[in-house]
Amino acid sequence: MKITNQIQSVMAPPVSLANALKARCPDHLTLLDLSQAVPGYPPSDDILEAAAKALTDPLTHKYAPALGLAELREAHATQMNVKPEQVAVTAGCNQAFAVAMQCLAQQGRKVVLPTPYYFNHQMTLQMQGFEIVPWPCRSDMSPDFDSLPSLITPDVCAVVLVSPNNPTGYTSAPDAIRSLLAQCESWGIHLILDSTYQDFVPPEQRFIPGVYDRLIQVYSFSKAYAMAGHRVGSLIGPQALIEQAEKVIDCWAICAPRLGQHMALAGIQMAQDWLRDWRGRIEQRERLLRRAFQSLPGYDIVASGAYFAWMRFDADVDSVSMATHWIEQRGTMALPAAYFGSDQPALRLAFANIDEAGIDELARRLGEGIQL
Ligand SMILES: Cc1ncc(COP(=O)(O)O)c(C=O)c1O
Repeated sequence: MKITNQIQSVMAPPVSLANALKARCPDHLTLLDLSQAVPGYPPSDDILEAAAKALTDPLTHKYAPALGLAELREAHATQMNVKPEQVAVTAGCNQAFAVAMQCLAQQGRKVVLPTPYYFNHQMTLQMQGFEIVPWPCRSDMSPDFDSLPSLITPDVCAVVLVSPNNPTGYTSAPDAIRSLLAQCESWGIHLILDSTYQDFVPPEQRFIPGVYDRLIQVYSFSKAYAMAGHRVGSLIGPQALIEQAEKVIDCWAICAPRLGQHMALAGIQMAQDWLRDWRGRIEQRERLLRRAFQSLPGYDIVASGAYFAWMRFDADVDSVSMATHWIEQRGTMALPAAYFGSDQPALRLAFANIDEAGIDELARRLGEGIQL
């Protein structure tokens, strides 16, 4: 069988690579899993009740409108300060990103991608034939806004920003995002803003979109409402984009899962206190993690926020070797910087996955320092 080079050259899904590595966890240690960012707790009772109720409605088992249930589009639009016509409900945020880029895809076009990047953005862009222009972060993992203008050429159609960031945890201030958007407008290109983790930072640190010609925002219900398996996300942008996106969604999935849409709606309407409570607990995990790492020899948390910490190590090995060492010697799985396109000696820790006891255990396992 002849598979195109375009697909063959895309990296294997990093989460699958990590899952294979997990098999190397020694028998005497319980796996501490800091690899895939996935809530370790179930959806709120309100969401589960809404799901149970929806299951008994025959309509739930039919297709939904391609752009999503009207009630969900309305409720989400209010949350995001846009009109319902500017919202498409998608089968997860990854699909929203791919749909948006499909609408912008054109032979020979370039996209500026902050590095380290979220691997599925890089993979999607590569599959769709975009040329990626890497935009290296500063040493504190913040976006280097000063270096950006030198990367903008006539064939660049978009700049991507993930805030709060995966993999670094760095959260860009709303003012910084606003001025980036103004710059993109002046260059006549789009800003693609991935806000998957926005609910895990305090409201004053969030960028509230509003109506802009050049802003395309993608969002996920997976993390905020602990419903990753139900595949609901959103694409928010100018109405003209959403009208074209409907064609892509219709061909790729017809609609986002209808049961998940009922759960997302219940989340918006009934789970805000629950969500705030979880944000508080995860912020506490971040504080504990940072405190624990202050006394761990050879490791340094360079940036953290929302779900992730970016941790540098002081050893003369590459990040994949360090991740392998961690799983084999410490029974701990974290993703190497290499999976995010970075050659830094660093690992990404999805600290939100583990509770306070898990953080204590992590500190205990790493306490002996790096012994390769
Ligand atoms: C930055 C970012 N965008 C999108 C996604 C995917 O979200 P979804 O589950 O809604 O497809 C993730 C998941 O890890 C992510 O980290």
